[in-house]
Amino acid sequence: MRIAVFASGTGSNYEAIMKYFQDHQIDDAEVVMLFSDHPGAAVLDKARNWNTPTVSAKFRDFSDKQAYEKFILQELDRFQVEFIVLAGYLRLIGSTLLDRYLGRIINIHPSLLPAFPGKDGVGQALAAKVQETGVTIHFVDQGMDTGPIIAQKVIPVELDDNHNSLTQKIQQVEHQLYPEIILAFVRGQVTLTDFGVLWNDSKSRS
Ligand code: GRF
Repeated sequence: MRIAVFASGTGSNYEAIMKYFQDHQIDDAEVVMLFSDHPGAAVLDKARNWNTPTVSAKFRDFSDKQAYEKFILQELDRFQVEFIVLAGYLRLIGSTLLDRYLGRIINIHPSLLPAFPGKDGVGQALAAKVQETGVTIHFVDQGMDTGPIIAQKVIPVELDDNHNSLTQKIQQVEHQLYPEIILAFVRGQVTLTDFGVLWNDSKSRS
């Protein structure tokens, strides 16, 4: 399956996916392009190191969201992308992309959704003084971090946790969980249906 990763920032999740695919000798899925809305993002350097083709384009260079997403669609077509993985992509996906890729776009968020959506899920959890937070992977819909949930992992918040320590714990979990869920999708073990997320355990896991 031909995968595009969308990222705006540092790209530790992108890199974790690439490492996982390499370490597990995955041959039924390939990251064929990386898209960024920030031409200076560190993730683009990481992609070049991994020989992933990159495309970057600033939203403000287009007349509106539709024009921006039409450009992205053209690039996705050029690379024959079948599945989009958002990994720290900071823009809301609009209807132009969703119409084509609904059920084939997933996102990772650093909280137990529906708690603490949007910006700084880690900071929101600390400010709320919750005992537990975590990681959520979900299908993307029109909303901000609102799509049907595929997988979640709980992470305890310790009294002495700060933004940095909690981010590290969350990212450690993300880097393991995201590649696993991506592969589950690639292998048809999880799909989005009209009734919600369907896990099909009869398909082989490896
Ligand atoms: C991750 O924590 C992810 O949950 C959130 O953005 C962060 C991206 O980090 N959506 P990185 O760029 O992959 O290091």
